[in-house]
Amino acid sequence: MATNGDFIRRDRRGHPPAYTPQYKTSVLRSPRCALLSLEQSVGERSGPVFGHGRIDPLDNDLILNYARGGEPIGERIVVHGRVLDETGRPVPSALIEIWQANAGGRYRHARDAYLAPLDPNFGGCGRCVAGEDGGYFFRTVKPGPYPWRNHGSDWRPAHIHLSVFGHAFAQRLVTQLYFEGDPLIPLDPIVGTLPDASAVDRLTAKLDMGAMVPFDSLAYRFDVVLRGRRQTFFENRPEGT
Ligand SMILES: [Fe+2]
Repeated sequence: MATNGDFIRRDRRGHPPAYTPQYKTSVLRSPRCALLSLEQSVGERSGPVFGHGRIDPLDNDLILNYARGGEPIGERIVVHGRVLDETGRPVPSALIEIWQANAGGRYRHARDAYLAPLDPNFGGCGRCVAGEDGGYFFRTVKPGPYPWRNHGSDWRPAHIHLSVFGHAFAQRLVTQLYFEGDPLIPLDPIVGTLPDASAVDRLTAKLDMGAMVPFDSLAYRFDVVLRGRRQTFFENRPEGT
């Protein structure tokens, strides 16, 4: 039975179905049997918790954290936002890890054979811990689109991969952010697995001129929403009312 400390059961209607043949690798990855719901135990409601002490000061600066005597080529951008739960509360100390292709669309990964060159000054990985207000911030270059083998050659829109740890395993989220105005977004078979336009919109970072750095970087805003806990009640009144 659910208690006030439990996380709200995931509403899967906003998520893509596991089996989506237009995204070819989902055919073999997707489960063949119906999902089972398990009661939440302390293992899902607590930990792991990451401290600021594990984070290096340059970890959220992809322009400098792999630099080898120069800076990476590409469109310099800031990506920032807040990590919130689905009740709108900030999730302080959430760990946000990102990985991305370079400006030419090439990952620094042994299995990426795309003909675009590696950038000697760009690693493509970063991480940071959200502040008390759930805020986070990365400095990077905008990733390029790249082709991939799906049904023939499809093209991925520019995107950044994110992994987020909140306050419990039940809040774990792995997703991708896209960039407002990219004409490849509606053509992408992976974006096409999302159930509706509002889900695509929630994965699209918005140009944020208020946060741009003059004569340096454009900025994009992307808020991350994790599962929330059930409302805490006090004397039969919802908290805060
Ligand atoms: Fe990717």
